[in-house]
Amino acid sequence: MHRIGIIGCGKIAQVRHIPEYEANKDAELVAFYDINHERAKEIARKHGGKAYDDLSEMLSSGLDAVSVCTANTTHREISVKALEAGLNVLCEKPMATTLEDVIAMTEAAQRTGKILMIGQNQRLLGAHIRAHEMIKSGIIGRVISFRTVFGHGGPETWSVDPGKNTWFFDRSKAAMGAMADLGIHKTDLIDFLLDDRVAAVTASVRTLDKTDGKGNLISVDDNAFCIYEMASGAVGTMNASWTFYGDEDNSTVIYGTDGIMRIYSDPKHSITVEKHDGERYYFDIDRIQTNDAQTSSGVIDAFIESLNSGKAAIDAVSVVPAMRAVFAALESSEKGKRIEIPENR
Ligand SMILES: NC(=O)c1ccc[n+]([C@@H]2O[C@H](COP(=O)([O-])OP(=O)(O)OC[C@H]3O[C@@H](n4cnc5c(N)ncnc54)[C@H](O)[C@@H]3O)[C@@H](O)[C@H]2O)c1
Repeated sequence: MHRIGIIGCGKIAQVRHIPEYEANKDAELVAFYDINHERAKEIARKHGGKAYDDLSEMLSSGLDAVSVCTANTTHREISVKALEAGLNVLCEKPMATTLEDVIAMTEAAQRTGKILMIGQNQRLLGAHIRAHEMIKSGIIGRVISFRTVFGHGGPETWSVDPGKNTWFFDRSKAAMGAMADLGIHKTDLIDFLLDDRVAAVTASVRTLDKTDGKGNLISVDDNAFCIYEMASGAVGTMNASWTFYGDEDNSTVIYGTDGIMRIYSDPKHSITVEKHDGERYYFDIDRIQTNDAQTSSGVIDAFIESLNSGKAAIDAVSVVPAMRAVFAALESSEKGKRIEIPENR
């Protein structure tokens, strides 16, 4: 039985981590910490276990692993502290908010020999796993281009502390906006689906509509428009948005020499494949989870399996190329030029 602690007891901890640990027979939730101590106490009352008001004390209380579910800019400090306390770590995305932090985290995992897994749950969705296998098997031929989109109406109604003053809109706590919140999901997904890496980026990362409590445009982006040139030569677009004021869009379309694959794009089928010769195939695997309709993400089961096997299902090192692409997109937008990522070639 793995003894688990939760750091950050907000929305993602409440709708995903906690229920999924509770459903896993090899996990026992025993400790909770949040800078809002009342929240940690309330969660401990509801789910059992102890609420700590001192993180170091919690980390030395005999845990096996922790979930890090705090604001983005705290991921490095908390994850490294937990690894150095000898614990395995599941850290939410975005892994961190600077490349220096990303590298420090992977180095801490290597130094301590502990597991550092990142919650890139899109890799675990049924249709994405199936699409990955089919692309690999050549069903649409060589991939020429793609477009991938993740957009919804924004995080201000999602957070456990909702409203226009949410930390998601605060640069000091979030660092980035839609790009970090949603863009990292799709950037990592494209790497995963195509077994490829983003080798150059041209991007416009903008704040178009969202306002803070005072009516000013927020200090982070609410839209990111990126052209990704992959190491393989494929080129495509990634759009992340907090201003899709209707149904969520969480779709990906891959264009190959032998046909087109649409994933979570058709209202009826999770994958459709249209072949060059007119043949069509439909795959009904699962529905994508949305902010309003949470289904099991599989992240916690994958983390517990990682603890059992000693090998991270989504190792932090495998997320580094996508994080490099995210930072390159921000640099591209800021400088108004195309940015090469030689490390991803
Ligand atoms: N994988 C996904 O699809 C997904 C979805 C939503 C959120 N997330 C990520 O999860 C993280 C948390 O987001 P959320 O939606 O739960 O936000 P939230 O606002 O609902 O909750 C954040 C919680 O963290 C606590 N917190 C903040 N800083 C802390 C610190 N230094 N120490 C301890 N507690 C701290 C807050 O008090 C709050 O309870 C973010 O990094 C976010 O990007 C991932």
